[in-house]
Amino acid sequence: MNIGLLGTGTVGGGVIQMAGQTADLRIVKALTLDKPEGILTNDFADIASDGSIDTVAEAMGGISPAYEYARASLEAGRNFITSNKLLVSAKGAELDALARKKGVAFLFGAACGGGIPYLESLSVARESYPLDRVGGILNGTTNFMLFNMESRALSYDQALAMAQELGYAERDPSSDVLGLDTARKIVLAIAVGFGFDVRPQDVPTFGISTVTPEDIKAARSTGRALKLCARASFREGVLEARVNPVFCAPQNPEGAVSRNFNMAWFDGPQCGRIALYGQGAGRFPTASNMIRDLRSIQAGKLHMLPETLKQAQPDQNGRSRLWYVRTDAGKQEIRATVGEIHRRFATVPGAFFAEIEEEE
Ligand SMILES: NC(=O)c1ccc[n+]([C@@H]2O[C@H](COP(=O)([O-])OP(=O)(O)OC[C@H]3O[C@@H](n4cnc5c(N)ncnc54)[C@H](OP(=O)(O)O)[C@@H]3O)[C@@H](O)[C@H]2O)c1
Repeated sequence: MNIGLLGTGTVGGGVIQMAGQTADLRIVKALTLDKPEGILTNDFADIASDGSIDTVAEAMGGISPAYEYARASLEAGRNFITSNKLLVSAKGAELDALARKKGVAFLFGAACGGGIPYLESLSVARESYPLDRVGGILNGTTNFMLFNMESRALSYDQALAMAQELGYAERDPSSDVLGLDTARKIVLAIAVGFGFDVRPQDVPTFGISTVTPEDIKAARSTGRALKLCARASFREGVLEARVNPVFCAPQNPEGAVSRNFNMAWFDGPQCGRIALYGQGAGRFPTASNMIRDLRSIQAGKLHMLPETLKQAQPDQNGRSRLWYVRTDAGKQEIRATVGEIHRRFATVPGAFFAEIEEEE
């Protein structure tokens, strides 16, 4: 396989190293902002015009120019794989349709779950048996912070500083701590698992930016661990989705996910719950997932998304759930739909809420 690589940073650098250890995955050219030498180029035209390249692997991040390069690559009849959740959550349906028109691959295994082969497994599951729920702990940064707030009794600011020092959190951590990164990922799982094209901003999302040690203790006092979780279901014709902190029920393995690990799962009436656990980020875990996509293409798997995707907005007013709510006025437990809880508390300064998981 002759590959044009876009981006030579954390993930792209890992792809170069791992492909270099194989006999047949050849990086022909790699687009970089660094000094152009050897296979490195600063000009996408060098990749677009190289007739030997059959597959383009993108690990630059951002929508533009990744989107334009994706379209150009697919238009030219090249397979396209990416680790870029921002790109796929915004443009995945369109890029997959173009790939189908051209008879080439569009795969994005590393865009949700980092090193965990979750989307690949989910797509095979969807082709094999009915699925009605997807979800998990999909953001390693926030899990690392919550884990250390609990296990080392750190404050939010101390946990964030530690995550930044270790390179788990960016200087501007807002997309992680506000849950936006998780929302982009659950949207990919909804698309692959249920065939719905949902905008991340339509998923009710509440992060951990207002969490305090008091909230962690409140979870612990009920024998539960506080985690930032994504959940989506498609049952009886109704699509629901949400990203919010959860007091995980004692029997739920998500409660035991430590440090910066992730757990991604799917569920169906026949298969039951299948959970995958591993590194949700990092150079080699994420590069491993991109290498898997390349191997999948060689094995003849060209798509993760179903052939038709239906645009949808998750219902926010279905099932009532039990919530822990803390505001200036104190702590309370209330029963509410996800829509109600957001309307009442999501914009109250300093307020925090978490779902208290009950047996389904
Ligand atoms: N890191 C992870 O653990 C991880 C996990 C899962 C998914 N991902 C996804 O993988 C993608 C890459 O992440 P990363 O962590 O590898 O980011 P990164 O370290 O910042 O690497 C991105 C690379 O792309 C280069 N780049 C950006 N725009 C470019 C352009 N227009 N032309 C040429 N090169 C360009 C950057 O150059 P400069 O350095 O000069 O800016 C950088 O070297 C993102 O979509 C991210 O969400 C990352």
